[in-house]
Amino acid sequence: MAANPAKKTQGISPFYVMDLLRRAKQLEDQGRSIIHMEIGEPDFPTPQAIIDAGIHLLQSGEVKYTPAAGLPHLRKEIADFYQRQGISVPVERIFITPGASGALLLALGSSLNAGDKVLLADPCYPCNRNFVTLLEGRVQAIPVDETTRYHLNAQIIKQHWTDSTKAVLVASPSNPTGTLIDADDLKQAVAMVDDLGGCFYSDEIYHGLVYGREAVSALKFSDQVFVINSFSKYFGMTGWRIGWLVVPEQFIGVIERMAQNLFIATSTVAQYAAIAAFAEETQIELERRRAELAMRRDFLYEGLLRMGFDIPIKPDGAFYIYANAAHFTDNSGQFALDLLEEEGVAVTPGKDFGEYNAPHMLRFAYTLPIDKMSIALQRLQRFINRE
Ligand SMILES: Cc1ncc(COP(=O)(O)O)c(C=O)c1O
Repeated sequence: MAANPAKKTQGISPFYVMDLLRRAKQLEDQGRSIIHMEIGEPDFPTPQAIIDAGIHLLQSGEVKYTPAAGLPHLRKEIADFYQRQGISVPVERIFITPGASGALLLALGSSLNAGDKVLLADPCYPCNRNFVTLLEGRVQAIPVDETTRYHLNAQIIKQHWTDSTKAVLVASPSNPTGTLIDADDLKQAVAMVDDLGGCFYSDEIYHGLVYGREAVSALKFSDQVFVINSFSKYFGMTGWRIGWLVVPEQFIGVIERMAQNLFIATSTVAQYAAIAAFAEETQIELERRRAELAMRRDFLYEGLLRMGFDIPIKPDGAFYIYANAAHFTDNSGQFALDLLEEEGVAVTPGKDFGEYNAPHMLRFAYTLPIDKMSIALQRLQRFINRE
């Protein structure tokens, strides 16, 4: 008799956008022009200095395991990165991980017991919910809207906290809304979770990508938070699979044992390459890209508003706009499929990010140049006018 997947895997939801991507690929194979606005990674290549550092390591032939916590040199670079923000973090609390995904797995895996509830925002990045489910924790997704910039705050946390609640997860700037939590709200939320004796996970993967505001790390307010970050987005290294995790001191031992057992170490090539992410020439290039993304954000935001999409707060960062399409549809999943079929524009439907208001919502990623977005907007306008 064939074995079945474990029960705890049943709650792991698929990415609905994958169906859309499959169809997009079929259409492309048939010669159709598809404009991708569903993709959560920048179109920019990895900066050259990072690539060169990776090649250099490969050519040395010394591609061996590193310590489970990561290369000391890279951990020090990250400690310096925080120091430049006025935050002192001992190197021992910094772990190099296979992406923010590896960091989330370590943070949640080291601190959750079966049945523990984790409060997070609806909408939010779907993998976070799935990690909790796999670890047999319970997700309590709390509907949030523009009144709290689509984030949890101290009051919401207090209101929903019960005896079985263990933790709070905040991702700012948010995927899918691009909104940044106010520094004061973050400070109060961290203090509230501290008072309640829970864990605070702060996913700061989009921190480098903020336009016109400042993203403040939760580490500024407490040394008891878990901070998740990554080289994927701002540093342009999605496919290299490297990120990092900062842990409270009492978790250092368990995180080290987990890293040793779960993946031994993060890719050695990626780690040596990532050291070059902090080189001055890379930083200049990354800042140039950030300025380009800010222009794209403005272009798309204004274009969508003109068309009649509702975007109550202008997103501050990441590369997403979460637009309310209620003027056009009550079924954003079908809207996205039809838009792809008829006009060759791919966007992500709200149901990938939660349930709250999901049938009205669409996520647009501005991970493509303005000239392409301009064509996408013309197609979108034609699609909206079709009836
Ligand atoms: C909010 C958020 N956290 C974590 C991740 C995972 O990123 P990584 O590529 O570093 O594993 C993503 C990827 O899209 C994300 O949007």
